[in-house]
Amino acid sequence: MSYLITSALPYVNNIPHLGNLICVVSADVYTRFLRSKGEKVISVLGTDEHGTTTEIKAKEEKLTPKQLVDKYFKIHTEIYNWFNCDFDCYGRASDKENYDISQDIFTKLKKNGFITKKKIKQYYDEKEKTFLADRFVKGSCKFCKFDDAKGDQCDNCGKLLEPNELLKPTSTLSGTKPILKQTEHFYIELNKLTPELKKWIKLNQKSWSNNALSTTNSWLKEGLRSRAITRDLKWGIPVPVKGYENKVLYSWFDAPIAYISITKRARKDWKSWWFNDKVNLTQFMGKDNIPFHTILFPAYLIGTKEKYTLMKTINVNEYLNYESGKFSKSRGVGIFGNDAMNTGIHPDIFRFYMIINRPEKSDSLFTWKDFQEKLNSELVGNYGNLVNRTLTFINRFFESKIPSLKKEDLVYKKQLKKIEYHYETIELKKACKEILELSKLGNQYFQENKPWELVKSNSEKAGNVLANLVKLIKDLAILLEPITPEKSKEVFQILGVNPSWKDLNKKLAKKQILDARILFEKLDGVKELQEEFSGREVFDDLDLRVAKVLKVEKHGDNLYKLQVSLGMEKRQLVAGLQKHYYPEELKNKKIVIVANLKPAVLMGEKSKGMLLAASDKKNVGLLTTDAKVNSRVSAGKEAIPKKQVDIDKVLKTKLVSKEGKIFYKHRRLYADSKDVVCDKDITGRVR
Ligand code: 2FM
Ligand code: ZN
Repeated sequence: MSYLITSALPYVNNIPHLGNLICVVSADVYTRFLRSKGEKVISVLGTDEHGTTTEIKAKEEKLTPKQLVDKYFKIHTEIYNWFNCDFDCYGRASDKENYDISQDIFTKLKKNGFITKKKIKQYYDEKEKTFLADRFVKGSCKFCKFDDAKGDQCDNCGKLLEPNELLKPTSTLSGTKPILKQTEHFYIELNKLTPELKKWIKLNQKSWSNNALSTTNSWLKEGLRSRAITRDLKWGIPVPVKGYENKVLYSWFDAPIAYISITKRARKDWKSWWFNDKVNLTQFMGKDNIPFHTILFPAYLIGTKEKYTLMKTINVNEYLNYESGKFSKSRGVGIFGNDAMNTGIHPDIFRFYMIINRPEKSDSLFTWKDFQEKLNSELVGNYGNLVNRTLTFINRFFESKIPSLKKEDLVYKKQLKKIEYHYETIELKKACKEILELSKLGNQYFQENKPWELVKSNSEKAGNVLANLVKLIKDLAILLEPITPEKSKEVFQILGVNPSWKDLNKKLAKKQILDARILFEKLDGVKELQEEFSGREVFDDLDLRVAKVLKVEKHGDNLYKLQVSLGMEKRQLVAGLQKHYYPEELKNKKIVIVANLKPAVLMGEKSKGMLLAASDKKNVGLLTTDAKVNSRVSAGKEAIPKKQVDIDKVLKTKLVSKEGKIFYKHRRLYADSKDVVCDKDITGRVR
């Protein structure tokens, strides 16, 4: 048996948060387990790049859709690499191979009579001049009357909807009521594919999870209807039919097909994976992706009448929520991939926490307190401690040489079987918990045998205890390698071994080891982390704007009186810059001001706002930028500023200049897509 593992392809128009990363990391953990066992396996990941959201987001960011996906593809790739996700095939839904295969599958479906053309009336946003597909029209669900249903799916009853089936529709783009306008689209006739689909489902459903089964069965019970698989968009794969090249394929058509094309791009032997009924195609996804993988994707493949590999195993995760609510991209609540990279916490620790807290059968909650608790008690206190105390002991009392194992006291065959079973059935959370139980056993054995006393009275016996422990440590590192790969590698390096699953429960050779080192550091306070990722921050209250200096006059010995322009509005500011700038250096300069600062009077002159400057011990340098006058300065997420703030707020906001680049926390400041910089090469606080 060989295994083809896929993780749902994340949308590449935003930064993924930990909840999104669960699926990717889970697929990687399972693949690593299979690799360690010596199974024939490859894994596939990539990015989902087309669709309405990408077009809209591109407009918002003033980029072309291509520029937008290129930008986020880079960010996504960095994040997956940082999280030690090691996929054999990695690519993009916008790669040329995906154009070819998606168009080929469409053409075959059409030739086989599974695609028909229909004229329909569809919602059109007159303000934004675009047809509104999918999620950009909201309204109430015609089945369950849920008020917040999206154009393509109701999150309440799970039913799929056609975009024109919503009651009380509103465009989420402009908030206006859309009009119905005639258009023409291609539909896949799912009803004609139902018998084949049912046959396939019956054959495979034994291994499917309950949520996968119930969603799929409710679809089937309902009766499969035809479904539009083209859209009126510019960004996407053109419909390969003469006269319809200005329409594109639905992104949920080409995204799953990208699993195939990504494999093709990465491997010459792609056909042996994608046309082979001996391959166990195992697909990881979040629960909202189920019907696309149990009905639509297999329908596309079956409809070609070619012998494509169909899914055998489906692994569905539920949602991960954050602290007291949901992760929110728009409000910046939660930990996003790039945030995690900046916390200084090792990626394996995040991987471990995602697995031990994996929303396997129900939703789960990320809290920093729990994160700290699990890290400190399990990785530091349990596993890390066992590794450290055992190896340090060998370093100190046995001249760093592994003592020989004469009598096996620690017997854990049963536990190993259990752990393997949980991995095999993709109950990763259970596997992880069992491994930690085994580690606990090791710590108990250490305590009970007191090698620190034994070594004085009976060195051989103490050696045997240590030999038992070091074997267990090697095994724990093998068992945990899929979850914490780098940390396991560290243990292997110290022990001078390079083992895999088959080496479990085997003795270690009597040889020299390297010095022990601390595997995991304790996490002390979490208050700062909680605050940092809570969404609302002091910085959000500030209204920072780009202003142009029009006029500069001396005011007393230290101050300048500046007249600045904010576009339509002119203002007077007073700033203590005489020692650092000549008036002519300031004139016409674009600076950054706190525009909503409570006005103050300085030496008799009114100051409406405050300019921002960085300083080290000697120098003061102004923040400046090429951005347009009056553009808002931001640090990566948009928040609505307070009407007015007082100076304390400004002083509390930790803005820093690092070699002339300006940061709020780990995020760079920019305005109107242009960086904000300091006009001198200063490293220090900004105020
Ligand atoms: O829900 C999502 O994030 C989708 N981008 C998943 C696509 S899975 C596959 F079909 F590519
Ligand atoms: Zn509904």
